[in-house]
Amino acid sequence: MTERKKVTLRTLFKKVAENEPVTFLTCYDYPTAHFQEQAGVDMILVGDSLGMTMLGFDSTLPVTMDDMIRHSQAVRRGSPNAWLIGDMPYMSYQPSVESAIRNAGRFMAEAGCDAIKLEGGTEMASRMAGITAAGIPAMGHLGLTPQSVSALGGFRLQGKGAHQAKKIIDDAKALEQAGAFAILLELVPDRLCQLITERAEDCFIIGLGAGPHAHGQLLIYHDMFGLYPKFKPRMAKVFAEAGEIILNGLKQYVQEVTDHQFPQPENWFGMPDEEYDELITMLE
Ligand code: KIV
Repeated sequence: MTERKKVTLRTLFKKVAENEPVTFLTCYDYPTAHFQEQAGVDMILVGDSLGMTMLGFDSTLPVTMDDMIRHSQAVRRGSPNAWLIGDMPYMSYQPSVESAIRNAGRFMAEAGCDAIKLEGGTEMASRMAGITAAGIPAMGHLGLTPQSVSALGGFRLQGKGAHQAKKIIDDAKALEQAGAFAILLELVPDRLCQLITERAEDCFIIGLGAGPHAHGQLLIYHDMFGLYPKFKPRMAKVFAEAGEIILNGLKQYVQEVTDHQFPQPENWFGMPDEEYDELITMLE
């Protein structure tokens, strides 16, 4: 097993300065975190998308702080060295700056996260400022923000028109000025992402379905391995059909048990004859 150095903000900004793309994936559990650590992923997001990918809800809205803390702790155990970001769930930061700081602090104190992420632009800049003033690194999230999916009219491209694009550019500046170390742009046109990336001064930009110009790329783990049965987003490349492999394994298991092919002697444990005979005597 390879050990690597802890990823820090310094490491990340150095990569950006040297034009090396930052790698970023979602993760929700210990074994997957272990693999991501071995693969050398720079940043891990324990996304509230776990409400959909792990818990089977149709949106991220039912996810609670306690859900997020539990999963973040598991991911931290599996990946001690990636830069770990806890995703602030619905209504954990929107009500007030105080709720935002308190809940961001839980990710740091209870789960060993390195940073948090929250959705929203100018209207959430006060939350971003409060959290960063409390000494907690924070990432912003613009474009398609799943917690506002109802207001945004569904899971669709954002910032296609000039006016909406200008608002996203202004929102990115507001988050940067509020202290965000990075901003995630989800499902926006490539040229909008490029404009925002070129204008970033004190933060770096991560794209998800936003083209090649960002400083780094995020993918949802379940999308990249064909593990989410409800839909396959166009923006996600499937790197391996792990879902198909698992399904084939499950079908084989059902068949082998049904056909008395499993278990085989190498899968069970015997008992010495004398112990067995004594047991039978005891039973008689
Ligand atoms: O929850 C999550 O995984 C996210 C991504 C969709 C960016 O916020």
